[in-house]
Amino acid sequence: MNRVLPVSWTESEGRAHVGGLALADIAARFGTPLVVIDQRHLENRLARFRAAFGPATGLTYAGKAFLCGALVRLLARDGWLVDVVSGGELELVRRAGFSMENVILHGNAKSAAELERAIAYGVGRIVIDHPDEVNDLRRAAAAVGAGHRPDLLVRLNVDLTPETHEKVRTVGPGTHFGMSPAVAASVARRIAGAGEWCLAGVHIHAGSQIRDPALFSRVAAAAVDFVAPLRLCFPETVELDLGGGLAAPYRVGEEVPSPRRYAEALMAGLHRSGAEARLGAYRLIVEPGRSVIANAGLTLYTIHARKPLDGAGEALAVDGGLSDNPRPSLYGASYEVLNVSRASGEADRTFRVVGRHCESGDVVAPSAALPGDTEVGDVLAIPGTGAYVFAMSSRYNGVGRPAVVFVRDGAAREVVRRETDDDLLACDLSLGGPGAARGARPVSAAAVRPSRAR
Ligand SMILES: Cc1ncc(COP(=O)(O)O)c(C=O)c1O
Repeated sequence: MNRVLPVSWTESEGRAHVGGLALADIAARFGTPLVVIDQRHLENRLARFRAAFGPATGLTYAGKAFLCGALVRLLARDGWLVDVVSGGELELVRRAGFSMENVILHGNAKSAAELERAIAYGVGRIVIDHPDEVNDLRRAAAAVGAGHRPDLLVRLNVDLTPETHEKVRTVGPGTHFGMSPAVAASVARRIAGAGEWCLAGVHIHAGSQIRDPALFSRVAAAAVDFVAPLRLCFPETVELDLGGGLAAPYRVGEEVPSPRRYAEALMAGLHRSGAEARLGAYRLIVEPGRSVIANAGLTLYTIHARKPLDGAGEALAVDGGLSDNPRPSLYGASYEVLNVSRASGEADRTFRVVGRHCESGDVVAPSAALPGDTEVGDVLAIPGTGAYVFAMSSRYNGVGRPAVVFVRDGAAREVVRRETDDDLLACDLSLGGPGAARGARPVSAAAVRPSRAR
């Protein structure tokens, strides 16, 4: 269980603690569903990546895994970059005071407004996903009229089939990210030939939840093979942004490579493909997301009902589910479940733990072993839910998104508050509340401009 749980997890007097606080007390204080982040675990992960990769690598946190202002400040403190994929993520990072120079903007369908905003804010790098984007950028730069030009990377789709869930595979047959080497090469020549933008390097993100280090070596080699014949298109030090994808352990017994093993695999790929000799100076960038934050986090739910299921055991219905964690429905994601109100109880019965939403697929865990005396009011913890959970949450069934609490050394800090009914209704202009007044305020044409058609 150790690898799945946050580092500060302890059990005493029948209660589970994280960050020196009893989880049942945290749930009572902040309510449930609640995302709890063990700050020490998070800081340890950031440090382990830095130790594995050294000071020269551009360690970039993939913001899509989970973003909030408190996290962004930690990343800035520890010298990380951040990758964002939307105007909303960019805005969050900017308002957290993060240096825009250290932001990488990704996205396979960036709007004109997003490109303009990125240029106006001075983001450091933009990753070009498709050939027309060069013209989109030119238009955006003209609209903004800014002198600043972000560096560009071209996103490559290479012929690899990573062993992972097909929905999180982002290279190879049937995927729609980036460009084939031939198309990317022509785009690279076009950018370099025009001389308007600095073509800083190449980007490949093969997919997520990748357990096989050999895949990372192949990604590194593919980047070198792409850049080498085009070397003159890039600056003296070319950037090799090799994406993220390192797996996180979700279930007991799941083995995943360490940050060090991940770094070694990438280095081995670079070495084997002759990066030094063929490219000269290069800088490595990596973009881990889930492997940084997944196991720092857990979700707390309160049991609202226990009931027999016709011929299928018993169900425990909790106060969240699909709206705060769509991963079980999307990918059949499987998690451990712990009763933190009875941490010392023997897990002698299995339950189907279900969410509160109106779909039979809203199952948090189809078969969770828990103490038989588990009852309504107990608090369940789902570890491994720091990544792609809060970030993917929705307002389905009018259930507000959960709060997020950072815990460390006996203190809990609410870093994202729970959504209220007013938050939920704030955009409904017909309801006449405070949000409606906000919505009715005149806004500038620029703020409402739709994505420009190509
Ligand atoms: C471009 C890019 N970089 C990095 C990541 C992070 O992946 P992971 O969270 O699996 O490390 C993703 C995930 O989708 C991505 O699309």
